[in-house]
Amino acid sequence: MEYMEQFQKIVEQQLARVEKMKQDTQFLDYKSLDRIIIGIIGGDGIGPAITANARHVLEELLKDEIASGKVELRDVDGLTIENRAACGKAIPDDVLDEIKKCHVLLKGPTTTPRKGDKWGNIESANVAMRKALDLFANVRPVKVPEDNIDWTFFRENTECLYAMGSQGVHITDDLAIDFRVITNPGTERIARQAFEYAKNNGKTRVSIVTKANIVKATDGKFLEICKKIGEEYPGIEVDDWYIDIMTAKLIDPKRRSQFQVFILPNLYGDILTDEAAEFQGGVGTAGSANLGRHYAMFEAIHGSAPRMVEEGREQYADPCSVMRASVMLLSHIGFQNQADLLEKALDICTVTEKKIAITGKQDGATGAQLADYILETIQKLGR
Ligand code: IPM
Ligand code: MG
Repeated sequence: MEYMEQFQKIVEQQLARVEKMKQDTQFLDYKSLDRIIIGIIGGDGIGPAITANARHVLEELLKDEIASGKVELRDVDGLTIENRAACGKAIPDDVLDEIKKCHVLLKGPTTTPRKGDKWGNIESANVAMRKALDLFANVRPVKVPEDNIDWTFFRENTECLYAMGSQGVHITDDLAIDFRVITNPGTERIARQAFEYAKNNGKTRVSIVTKANIVKATDGKFLEICKKIGEEYPGIEVDDWYIDIMTAKLIDPKRRSQFQVFILPNLYGDILTDEAAEFQGGVGTAGSANLGRHYAMFEAIHGSAPRMVEEGREQYADPCSVMRASVMLLSHIGFQNQADLLEKALDICTVTEKKIAITGKQDGATGAQLADYILETIQKLGR
């Protein structure tokens, strides 16, 4: 009956987490800080190469703030799969200490160990960081102006099947059970984040996505709470969809342009945002914000592409996703002008003008060349 004890432990952990969430209501105000520390985490595979490209651009954009001491760019090392596997931890303690000394983070992709591979059974660094820093809102924008697509996904980031993804139980050789967690405070905070965003950005529609017809307890709760919070926002139309039909409607040209803001539990959000990013040119083009009350982390939504490194091609990797993540980072900490400049330059360099193109191979530009092109464009735009 070992599993009964395991289950009891899980329930206690989750109840403690619920209490903690209820106590924790204030957001860090970046404006109140004398010095904002931006931690740069290279990660694995192509991560160090593409974050170095983004770092270079940030250094230029924040030149004055760095010179005056208002901003510090700080490299945080050690979040590599080799070091994590050697320590047997998703985030080694000393690395987590360094991370917690920063206010906001820009992170390259980290390799997620799979069952049976050489790295052992450690938890994903992404998932561990979202939990350790309580980064509950995963915000993923997708824009395709020519198709009239302008979507912002609010993916809950700490619950659902991710809360205990590494704590499932093998009851017998024939039976394994995982646990899915949805809580009131966990749902309230993501819903509020989405509705506030909608209100502050002139959005008129919020779509809640679940499978509440089948997964009744957890998705039922998620849907009910999101709807209830929606009632506090009278100017915003709220509708709800099941994940299967929503997956289909995203490819329906007549329907998809009507969607604006989405709220989803973690796993549906994981899947739907990959599909959504594909319309914009793939996961390599999409940035993502992981927001909590005390920290925020910005990252690419793609993987670490170890094959590119094995083949010696990492300098040709596309840094767009971390650059898009940098736009969100700048805006989040209050540097809206710089965020707008970088966003405009990215649109010019990678969508409209596109003087050079990244192919991921030698026949294309390097990430460093793209960074230079972006910086030249920023100069022209009038920095
Ligand atoms: C994402 C990724 C991660 C996730 C992986 C790398 C753990 O797919 O950020 O969407 O599943 O959340
Ligand atoms: Mg994903």
